[in-house]
Amino acid sequence: MGDQQHVVKIPTIDDLEAKFKLNGSRVLVRVDFNSPIDPKTGRILDDSRIKAHVETIKELYEKRCMIVLMSHQGRPGEDDFVSLENHAKVLEKHLGLPVEFIDDVIGPAARKRISELKPGEILLLDNTRLVSEEVIEAVPEKQANTIFVRRLAPLFNFYINDAFAAAHRSQPSLVGFPLVLPSAAGRLMEREVKALAKLVSPEERPRIFVLGGGKVRDTLRIIEHLHMQRAADRILVTGLVAELFLLAKGLNIGTENKRFLERRGLISLLPRARYILLKGAPIETPVDFVTLKGNEVSVEHVGSITGLIRDIGPATIEMYSELMKDAKVIVLRGPAGVIEDPRFRKGSIALVEAALSTNAFTIIGGGHLTSILNEVRIPEGARYHVSTGGGALLLFLAGEELPALKALELSAKKFLGW
Ligand code: 3PG
Repeated sequence: MGDQQHVVKIPTIDDLEAKFKLNGSRVLVRVDFNSPIDPKTGRILDDSRIKAHVETIKELYEKRCMIVLMSHQGRPGEDDFVSLENHAKVLEKHLGLPVEFIDDVIGPAARKRISELKPGEILLLDNTRLVSEEVIEAVPEKQANTIFVRRLAPLFNFYINDAFAAAHRSQPSLVGFPLVLPSAAGRLMEREVKALAKLVSPEERPRIFVLGGGKVRDTLRIIEHLHMQRAADRILVTGLVAELFLLAKGLNIGTENKRFLERRGLISLLPRARYILLKGAPIETPVDFVTLKGNEVSVEHVGSITGLIRDIGPATIEMYSELMKDAKVIVLRGPAGVIEDPRFRKGSIALVEAALSTNAFTIIGGGHLTSILNEVRIPEGARYHVSTGGGALLLFLAGEELPALKALELSAKKFLGW
């Protein structure tokens, strides 16, 4: 959507088949099963990202491939950094086929099981981020030489990347394999890239971005990029990002909330947030919040907040809804509140409903926000696209080259003669 939107041409499963025989082959598939997890029970709160990969996996199953799936879940040190055992069960339910899970990624147990697989068998490896190399970002050439890639690649004929939502990460499981194995985009990746590339023409203004969620560092990077590319006419912030920008404006968000940001190491981002404001990025911040003090839920206005911020308040919902009214394109990413608790979903639901009630084309992205869609009233005739991507979606729309797509292009040059 940035005015410098690049043309993306990535190899698909059809391109791979035109040159090689996929039937009965050993295929390593990078999916993005990263889902919201209940921090108390470890339960997967929304399985739409898992479901979204069914088409690709079924197609490979029908070709009698030996299918090995890998995904990350959360980040080391965070509550949602868990094993993929439950994800295998959820996938099995959606696929209607047996899915085996192994609590290993690149070790001897995983490699032995992979080499013994029979046609049509599906194996899910454990969380890729259990391997320390996976959390380091580097160019594809470097990632192709990691232990991660060198251990697994010899066991496969092909690599398929279906993880659009992780395409902005330059990690071994996403960019290393395409350089050593003939590779292609899976059906979900293909669909997302095609849909987004043609969705929005640069003339369609105003474009409004509603950005929330917990990934504050990433969101700042995205805002910088959107502003640099002049891709956003307004950026309405919610969640922790909003708290940071309020502080950057010199407003009081209450001691508890400031301490919360401190504990998460986010106060160090204040100078960056101030610089973004100074550069004139069109940021709008909330005027009130729903807060929690003990068990008491209240609405408090910015400047006199004493409770812990949990959601945006009614005046903010009204103001943001008003601002969205004349938009041509609205992109929403990340929840406005702590949606894991039903008491704090209202802001996120209201903003999605407000966007869908406008005449704009709405793009809703990110695993967390899409998890509340079943609670949203979708007006008849609403024009929208639900993307599995959050950060990847926004960077793609801002015209940034996504490393995983670039790696697929490099692979096509090397193995498909593009
Ligand atoms: C996402 O949820 O945006 C993707 O799964 C990528 O996750 P990450 O931001 O932890 O890399």
